[in-house]
This record gives sequence, structure tokens and C-alpha cells, in this order.
Amino acid sequence: MKKPVEVCLSPLSLGLYSLSGKIVVVVDIFRASATIITALANGATKIKAVSTVEEALDFQKRGYLAAGERGGRKVEGFDLGNSPLDCTPNVVGQKPVVLTTTNGTRSINASMSAKAVAVGSFLNISALVHYLKSSECPILILCAGWKDFVNLEDTMFAGALIEELGDDCIADSDSSKLALELYRKHRNDILSFLRDSDHARRLIRIGYEKDLAYCLSRDSFPINAMVIDGEIVAVG
Ligand code: MLT
Repeated sequence: MKKPVEVCLSPLSLGLYSLSGKIVVVVDIFRASATIITALANGATKIKAVSTVEEALDFQKRGYLAAGERGGRKVEGFDLGNSPLDCTPNVVGQKPVVLTTTNGTRSINASMSAKAVAVGSFLNISALVHYLKSSECPILILCAGWKDFVNLEDTMFAGALIEELGDDCIADSDSSKLALELYRKHRNDILSFLRDSDHARRLIRIGYEKDLAYCLSRDSFPINAMVIDGEIVAVG
């Protein structure tokens, strides 16, 4: 049976959707999704997504590595910023991580009433598609955006995911069609197109240009990242 796929283009619209019985795929392409997938693939034992700096500092006192950003910049007093390139095995291996970001972690925490919450990124898109195809649950792709504004990179990924899900799903809403058409138009020049997006330009300005290509690299890790008992862990 084909499953419906919905795309929520901004957390501001999340209240318009029912999460009950659905798998929510949280998407924050630049860069929280990539950071989460990379940290777990490189051995972080779990990731606690929190919405405030104060919560993160509290978990840091309990032995978690504190990671995250505000406005793209590393938060003062944290162990790491939000560059996935900093999440090497030597740094995160066998350690719990607490993460707070401007948009991505808030979107994860806003999705907790769903049946399941997965993190979506280009780095694990095939593993994610395999998981989603193996489930009967309807899917809601939640684009984290930027401070409730719609952004290109998360919308682009939503389109890529719909494309990969193919005939397994029905994506017939305007937001799904918009995401799919954006991806189909730029699938062959994703980096050059997204380099001009609002957040990519912001990241380039503050010295994180290298993160862009990395966050768009496909299938670097065959894992899923799921919220289980309130923390994000690697599955599969
Ligand atoms: C976000 O939360 O939108 C991103 O993680 C921001 C960033 O990493 O620069």
C-alpha cells in the first residue's frame, strides 16, 4: 500500500500537521543533520538534542560533549561547534554528545509526539529510504529552515527523499511537489545552486565553506539516526 508523504517547509507550520502515527524525518542539511549522522557514525554513543544553551551546559556538567551553534558560530564554553568535520572518531568516539542548534534540535524536540523521529541527511539518504520503505507508517518530512523561514537546502533534500521513495509513496501536496520539482531541477548542480542559499552564504562568511560540500555528500554512512528514549542513537 502506498504511504502518504507530507512536507512541512517550516517549523512554523508544524501545528497544521498531525504527527500521530507518523514517522517524522527532521531535516537540517546545513548542518545539524550531517553533524548528527557523522558523530554517531564516528562512535558517539548517543546525542541529546536540546533547545537551549543552558540545557546543553547542564548536560556538559554530566559528562556530555557540548556541541552546537548560534548563528552558525560555536557557542562559548562548548567543546564543539556544529561543524560535522569536527566530529572525528578521536573527538566523539565512545562519548555522549549534547547538541543545540538554531533550528535543527528545536525541530527534533517539536516532533516528539510522532510515532518515530528520524534524522535525514544526504550522508545517510539510502539507509533512510530503506528504513522508510520497510515501514507502513505515513511520513512527514520536517524542514528545520532558518528561524522559521523556509530554506532551499532542506526543501531540496525533501525533494530528493521523495524522489528516492518513488512509487512507494504518494506525495501529492503542493509542498511535496514544490520540493520534488526543486530537486529535479537542480539534482545535477546541487552544490553550485545551494552555495547561493541564505545559510550557505552565511556559513561561507564565517569560515565554514568546507562544510557545504560535506553536508551534501551522498551516502557517506549506512546508518539511521533515531530518537529512542529521548536521545538520538545510531540504528543499523
Ligand atoms: C541549524 O540549526 O539551522 C543549523 O544547524 C545551523 C548551523 O549549523 O549553522
